Amino acid sequence: MAHPELRAEVARRRTFAIISHPDAGKTTLTEKLLLYGGAIRQAGSVKARKAARHATSDWMEIEKQRGISVTSSAMQFDYNGFRINILDTPGHQDFSEDTYRTLVAADSAVMLIDNAKGVEEQTIKLFKVCRLRSIPIFTFINKMDRTGRDPFELMEDIESVLGIRSCPVNWPIGIHGDFKGVYHRDTRLIELYSGGDHGQGQVNVETVSIDDPDCPDKIGQSYYDKLIEDIELLDVAGDEFDMEKILAGQLTPMFFGSATNNFGVEPFLNRFLSYTKSPTPRVAEGVGPIDPDDEKFTGFIFKIQANMNPAHRDRLAFMRVCSGVFEKGMTVWHSSTNSKVKLAQPQTFMAQEHESVETAYPGDIIGLFDPGIFRLGDTICTGSPVRYSGIPLFAPEFFCRVSPEDSMKRKQFLKGINQLSQEGAIQTFKRPNIGREEMIAGVVGVLQMDVLEYRLKSEYGVDIIRENLPFRFVRWVVETPKPLEKLRLTSTTAIAEDRVGRPVLMFENEWSIRLAGENNEGLVLAETADRMTADEME
Ligand code: G4P
Repeated sequence: MAHPELRAEVARRRTFAIISHPDAGKTTLTEKLLLYGGAIRQAGSVKARKAARHATSDWMEIEKQRGISVTSSAMQFDYNGFRINILDTPGHQDFSEDTYRTLVAADSAVMLIDNAKGVEEQTIKLFKVCRLRSIPIFTFINKMDRTGRDPFELMEDIESVLGIRSCPVNWPIGIHGDFKGVYHRDTRLIELYSGGDHGQGQVNVETVSIDDPDCPDKIGQSYYDKLIEDIELLDVAGDEFDMEKILAGQLTPMFFGSATNNFGVEPFLNRFLSYTKSPTPRVAEGVGPIDPDDEKFTGFIFKIQANMNPAHRDRLAFMRVCSGVFEKGMTVWHSSTNSKVKLAQPQTFMAQEHESVETAYPGDIIGLFDPGIFRLGDTICTGSPVRYSGIPLFAPEFFCRVSPEDSMKRKQFLKGINQLSQEGAIQTFKRPNIGREEMIAGVVGVLQMDVLEYRLKSEYGVDIIRENLPFRFVRWVVETPKPLEKLRLTSTTAIAEDRVGRPVLMFENEWSIRLAGENNEGLVLAETADRMTADEME
């Protein structure tokens, strides 16, 4: 592969995730994007699958319906010369640590917000992970066809809750459900909205310049006056559009529109694609950044999907290509086994079906058949071995004390629990000082507990007893001014250690976390920790 070709393929790639709270309109927006790209022909296909998936809160049903290929895990399509990869961030019952890990494979994020709700809980969590990686975040305020909050109030909400300044690229016209359209600050054009019917159809869009003498008539004098006032205020008091800050994740460009009515979606997509980054260099340990244009192929595993069918133990490992060209059947070096492996049966993901992949470029997501060798964060590459920094552990939010029903099966139980936690399905903790041996399983999404129970039974033949614990937060202790037992903590805070023996504090509420900080000067806590492999533990 000649260098210029690789460079061109990298330049046209955009790999991103949509972060939002359930019901903000992620499925609807994704579907509209896929429609533009011609990846689906009919509105409703993504929604139908989602409906099937969420009609049940039973985890086995969810797994059965989506199967091992998980066609929605990553969607690839072409639009205006761009090759777009959208990473799915499961958000309903299947919200889990995988949702966070997926963000590690994205180059940017679209933050979708319901105009009536503002910033919601799950968005905050996902935003934090994006922040950690300093990736650009583009805000789309959705459901503008409906009554919602004042746009200035939404800007304030984003700043006060998330701590990021926003810069509106367009601005809505109309109040209290009487939505007229949006004004694009870059072109000074107003797109007028009419005929929206909360359906699949596209609205009629008429364009008028704000400088056109007919403009006040077209949008109504009072709305025109309000618009002029708003944009003057934005020009004077708002943040300037600053590409450098946007790309560093310090400023979020803000757009308004309506996904169901297809209003403001395409102008958003066009600007998003031109502003955001193509795949950027990733840092390899001891080597430094590796350029995506580098001819050496590198990639890393960010998600492993176990097959829930007991007859098929095979798994699917999701890999992001970071540099060079991936070719089917290629032999690569694999970090955690420190040996060469041949990558057979790669799959790429389309909106409706997965296809076998012949070649892939930086930014692309590939599903690899995994006979059980891959671990989260593994690097694979050609040429001399390199290792990308691993995927961190993210703080679980649900905790259970788990033990085998039959104490004779303790050995299998421990083996299973250890393997599943190494694989990233759960995390484990222990409280060393409670006087009896215990095993605490921690998960980000409560459904992961069902996965644990099911897999321990089907793969290790162990039935378990689960006992919910009241903790909701775990924090790794990075620095402490004194031994943990001597810290001033609330009575409900527990001292524990993670799988590799690192000290953690477990809290029932955020208030206790705050007090721990206030009452113990020099105590430094972290929401994530390095994932350590078995080799590093030894
Ligand atoms: P999610 O994936 O983020 O969970 O959200 P989803 O797209 O499923 O949208 C959640 C609900 O919000 C859906 O309504 C959807 O139609 C609606 N919605 C999405 N975008 C807009 C918008 O721009 N304007 C308005 N008014 N509604 C929007 P539903 O009643 O749950 O489903 P349906 O009956 O519409 O299928």
